Amino acid sequence: MSFLEYLESNLPSVESFHPHFNEALAWVLKAGGKHFRAQLVIGTAKAINPLCDPYAAALAVELLHTYSLIHDDLPAMDNANLRRGVPTLHVKYDEVTAILAGDALNTAAFGVLANSNLPPHIAIKCIQVLSKNGGLDGMVIGQAIDCYFENKKLSLDELEFLHLHKTGALIAASMQIGAIVAGASDEESNDIYKAGLKLGLAFQIHDDIIDATSSSDKAGKPTNNDSSKNSFTNLLGVDKAIEARDELEKQIINQIQNQDVKELVTNLINKYLKG
Ligand code: IPE
Ligand code: IPE
Ligand code: MG
Ligand code: MG
Ligand code: MG
Repeated sequence: MSFLEYLESNLPSVESFHPHFNEALAWVLKAGGKHFRAQLVIGTAKAINPLCDPYAAALAVELLHTYSLIHDDLPAMDNANLRRGVPTLHVKYDEVTAILAGDALNTAAFGVLANSNLPPHIAIKCIQVLSKNGGLDGMVIGQAIDCYFENKKLSLDELEFLHLHKTGALIAASMQIGAIVAGASDEESNDIYKAGLKLGLAFQIHDDIIDATSSSDKAGKPTNNDSSKNSFTNLLGVDKAIEARDELEKQIINQIQNQDVKELVTNLINKYLKG
């Protein structure tokens, strides 16, 4: 089964007389996206243990990531009207629906792990990793800093902290969760997490490059939208940002020990983090 098929047959929903809450919950999930993090969960898990079942864990990460995008697009944050090539949720419905659909996807992510067929000690480890990296110690503090420091210039070190938290942490967690589901040792899953953080940093630098150089049609979201933000392109310029991304990509590939994980990450970098 592909991840897309799994996602489509496991969309969160609720029985109620609300006229469109289920449609709203599914709106951004159905719009597509690269499923980069889900591919990392599944690919890392299968590389380490081809017999394991990482689909529920991949779904959990994708639900949490999608919630973060729905909230990121709200008027109070990035005020974006397009996401994954379709109107953002608050534009399609309203802000209340977007806030609550985000809340629902966030909590559903942890429900998916808790209710999965994973052995309880593995499910708990995944919940710990997702809660840390998708929450306060990761995405949330990153987003808080990103928004608080709009129009206030950060140093390069501070910008790296911001990107490592808002994006790097969840991408690293995706790889770590894949390793945990596969039954990897703590040592192996922690090493994978470290490489994943660099991958996440490269991913956000590339996202900044997309904002500066791509069309909104191609990106499926507004571009040239980061002018008041601390971004790698704003601090370094596009050419130096590309250099920094490419240098990180080399380091990541060298750092990964497992040959199959190395191949997975190389393929994903070539597919999504070039140009
Ligand atoms: C966008 O993430 C937000 C960032 C962290 C840069 P993605 O680029 O993975 O978005 P989708 O999931 O493919 O739409
Ligand atoms: C958002 O970063 C990262 C999240 C944690 C959602 P951006 O604001 O740069 O993501 P895009 O460009 O809107 O996808
Ligand atoms: Mg943002
Ligand atoms: Mg944004
Ligand atoms: Mg961006």
